[in-house]
Amino acid sequence: MSDRLYIFDTTLRDGEQVPGCQLNTVEKIQVARQLEALGVDVIEAGFPVSSPGDFNSVIEISKAVTWPTICALTRAVEKDIEVAAEALRYAKRKRIHTGIGTSDSHIRYKFNSTREEILERAIACVKYAKRFVEDVEFYAEDAGRTDNEYLARVVEAVIKAGATVVNIPDTTGYCLPSEYGDKIRYLMENVDGIENAIISTHCHNDLGMATANTMAGVMNGARQVEVTINGIGERAGNTSLEEIAMILKSHKELDIETNINTKKIYPTSRMISSLMNMPVQPNKAIVGRNAFAHSSGIHQDGVLKNVQTYEIIDPRDVGIDDNSIVLTARSGRAALKSRLNALGIELTQEKLDKIYQEFLKLADKKKDINDDDILLLAGADRTHNHRIKLEYLQVTSGVGVRSVASLGLNIAGESFEDSASGNGPVDAAIKALKKIINRKMVLKEFTIQAINKGSDDVGKVHMQVEYDGHVYYGFGANTDIVAASVEAYIDCINKFKI
Ligand code: KIV
Ligand code: ZN
Repeated sequence: MSDRLYIFDTTLRDGEQVPGCQLNTVEKIQVARQLEALGVDVIEAGFPVSSPGDFNSVIEISKAVTWPTICALTRAVEKDIEVAAEALRYAKRKRIHTGIGTSDSHIRYKFNSTREEILERAIACVKYAKRFVEDVEFYAEDAGRTDNEYLARVVEAVIKAGATVVNIPDTTGYCLPSEYGDKIRYLMENVDGIENAIISTHCHNDLGMATANTMAGVMNGARQVEVTINGIGERAGNTSLEEIAMILKSHKELDIETNINTKKIYPTSRMISSLMNMPVQPNKAIVGRNAFAHSSGIHQDGVLKNVQTYEIIDPRDVGIDDNSIVLTARSGRAALKSRLNALGIELTQEKLDKIYQEFLKLADKKKDINDDDILLLAGADRTHNHRIKLEYLQVTSGVGVRSVASLGLNIAGESFEDSASGNGPVDAAIKALKKIINRKMVLKEFTIQAINKGSDDVGKVHMQVEYDGHVYYGFGANTDIVAASVEAYIDCINKFKI
């Protein structure tokens, strides 16, 4: 019988920690349901003590999903553990994920402590968590740089204290695959009682080795992997779920199975990218736009003769349907609905009707409507709770003239308008906006991105604006790039804590 590998998804915790990737509770529930449909075993839903928002999301996700275990992160601190247990109260299957740094640099600089004291704290946090839940996972933060002998002592002690899973994070993404694999093998061979717990990998991608390290861990005995969709996560990200799932599906000789329904991989990837406003690099393995695009003449020729010449994965296995209907201005509601469903989005008739109208307007401006456009449309009413909304924008610009913008805002139901000139259309529009919203705001980051190649494409704008000592992230999308920029600025302002 093949070995079973448990998939622990931390998109909603390690992934959501990334600046600009924050989701609201409704969006997190949508993601959690999609992860359940994808077949993950464990959903790390948040770090409840870190904020009321995280606490609440863990509660709501616990109510919303049925069979995956819901996991909540804590430090080795009693209060954290109590709050996590409280947040998990509705989960049908629950796990507390507690732990502490074990590398010498964490012990010395982060905790100003000693190996013996840290060992005691590790045992104590597991025992404390066991008072609330049966399933306790311990993480040895920075295990990648922890001395193996000491790590083995910690792992042995926490298993004795009741840990059901022990996580060996390469927190800094430093290990070489051989080094990380040897570490897992060392633990498998030197820890008394190792058979009473599952060893888990948790690899970061700082040197681009997260997937290789995770696989090295699995090949040496780890039976849980901690991963995220699209590999999002702190800094360069975490190991990506889709890569591990497809490696195991492709390499049958490894004889290791997961519960992942690989056909849901692509819709899940699109959903995360869209909700978190985090583009997927075009050449990303498995889910990038070019992952299955053969552009060189030699490759095209080979693929036409026999697809296996250059393709090791059938795109349909990850939910990319070659025959998907191409949406144009002539497509009906049913075609739009079917595409939305394929992307993991179910809508009420009323919402579908509304999006369909937006779709027709966009299709008038743009000949091919792609999945990113559809996902943007599905979130088209992302502004509907906003206090400040853009009512109109008119800009004149050109070569040899100064740009002038007039702009109207609706602020809590009241209309305001102003105009300004600037050294370009975006500058003029933002100056007009700042005349109405008269606060000391500083634009810190501004990126414009087009999804495809055409001049009719939807432009996406990501922005960061500093106000009152905080940096706020905003997003806008429009075929008019000046409007997208203003939308992004307004999105930031709507998030100000005032
Ligand atoms: O990278 C890491 O060490 C972590 C732990 C908190 C599990 O994310
Ligand atoms: Zn991490």
